[in-house]
Amino acid sequence: MKKYIAFTFLLSALLVTVQSCKKTTQEDTDLYNEIVSNTGYTYYVGTPGIKASSGNSPHGFERIRFNSIAQAALDSNGKLPAATSFPDGAIIVKDIYSSASGSINLYAVMKKAANNSAAGHGYLWAEFETDGKTVVSISKKGSSCTGCHSGSTNRDLVRVFDLL
Ligand code: HEC
Repeated sequence: MKKYIAFTFLLSALLVTVQSCKKTTQEDTDLYNEIVSNTGYTYYVGTPGIKASSGNSPHGFERIRFNSIAQAALDSNGKLPAATSFPDGAIIVKDIYSSASGSINLYAVMKKAANNSAAGHGYLWAEFETDGKTVVSISKKGSSCTGCHSGSTNRDLVRVFDLL
């Protein structure tokens, strides 16, 4: 009997852990709503169309876009000037495609929110499926993202400017 109770306890603890990993927070939903449409976004000059990813990016095919706050920080070459930073509210979205001619199957998102308690290195980090299902929640604080993004070379954690 004792064994049975211990087993049930372990099983429920496991379930709670699995559930909390999948949990979508209100912040995730709000961010998804900000990025699901490309209205108000400008595509990065280096990804005028769908491009194969570069560097050690884990994603196959992509197109990167900036909201108007992020876009305003870029120079005449469409890049963030070296040694400058994006202001709060800047959003960078990587639309990830299944193939060069395929449809979007994932959004990877960075939003500058330096004072947000969920920020990792000054950004909120998330990945969403196209229907809004959260793949990587903001609550993870970019733990699976910042290692690569703070690597060489980055401009305020954004990698693409020196790659494409
Ligand atoms: C293995 C390294 C690696 C990991 C892990 C990684 N990225 Fe990236 N990411 C890159 C590289 C390299 C680029 C730029 C080149 C490209 O996308 O082709 C990039 C580009 C991006 C961009 C476009 C802006 C930029 O930095 O160029 C976003 C947004 C993004 N990643 C979000 C994320 C999120 C969110 C996570 C975590 C869930 C993540 N990335 C994890 C390597 C990584």
